[in-house]
Amino acid sequence: MLGDDLKSLLDGALREIGTADAEGLEALRVSLLGKNGSVTTLLKSLGGMDPEARKAAGTQINLLKTQITDAISARRATLDEAALAARLAAERIDVTQPPRPEPQGAIHPLSRTTEEIAAIFGAMGFAIKDGPDIESDWNNFSALNIPAHHPARAMMDTFYLTAQPNERPAVLRTHTSPVQIRTMLNERPPIRIIVPGRTFRADHDATHSPMFHQCEGLVIEEGITLAHLKGCLSDFLSAFFGVPNLPVRLRASYFPFTEPSMEVDIGWSRKTGEIGGGTDWLEIGGSGMVHPNVLANCGIDPRKYQGFAFGVGLERITMLKHGINDLRLFYESDVRWLRHYGFSPLTPASLHEGI
Ligand code: DAH
Repeated sequence: MLGDDLKSLLDGALREIGTADAEGLEALRVSLLGKNGSVTTLLKSLGGMDPEARKAAGTQINLLKTQITDAISARRATLDEAALAARLAAERIDVTQPPRPEPQGAIHPLSRTTEEIAAIFGAMGFAIKDGPDIESDWNNFSALNIPAHHPARAMMDTFYLTAQPNERPAVLRTHTSPVQIRTMLNERPPIRIIVPGRTFRADHDATHSPMFHQCEGLVIEEGITLAHLKGCLSDFLSAFFGVPNLPVRLRASYFPFTEPSMEVDIGWSRKTGEIGGGTDWLEIGGSGMVHPNVLANCGIDPRKYQGFAFGVGLERITMLKHGINDLRLFYESDVRWLRHYGFSPLTPASLHEGI
């Protein structure tokens, strides 16, 4: 049993400890049990007592010290537990929350265009081919009916690679057309392919880049006519731009590898930029009936097989479709541009979307 003084000291201390916060509890510990704390002072006073009194008082003061120490520990445990519970509640992950769209990445508009073209031509039974960026002079020019020193070579600002002695001359391919040759050398008709890919020309301004992209198309079968070419291009361009019955005009032109040759124009409004609206025409590619010399160069009998081919600029049709006005921004890898013009990876191109 504690004496009255000690009892009231204990009661007061327990009351304060029971409601203290973490900081207050530490202050109480110091004021009670610290070097100059009230309990410590009482313990020190034992030294001046005679043995009888010291024994009785010592038991009481030590009991007081134990009770206060236990109360402080208990209060500290309660406070720690409450703090942990609060932290867990604040940091809880809500697994039912829907995912936020990933802010970092997006599908590049050119990749998107390639996917859309693949989906549209895939539905028409075309296979997708590719070829190397470094191409032989023969595949890029000669086999396509563009012999050395022919003025048609001047149509393209070619990057020529320095050939080692005994090496065949090579170039950075100036168009995707050499993949026509690669395919016709390796496969027999019927052939229906598209070739999306990188191409290179020594040209650089707001509408030209030394590296750009094209998509070639090639169909070789018996009985293929210019009507098939026009129908195929019209269907493709209508689907790609999402404009039913998009006006498509084939305008007489010249390419060495086709005869006859035609530029491909689509209807648009120069004033509003609307595709399929207005009365103006915009060139988006070249096309024609595959030249008999090209078929013969690949071992295909031009008297038996006919075909058409076309090539479109992928940057061109992507800029038109999405209202992008500077070609150079395609290659600057500016994430702000990509966030604005890019596409969510979660919405892949599909014909079901009505492209
Ligand atoms: N290769 C041509 C160019 O880069 C585009 C082209 C025109 C491709 C007519 C063709 C075609 O397949 O038939 O300018």
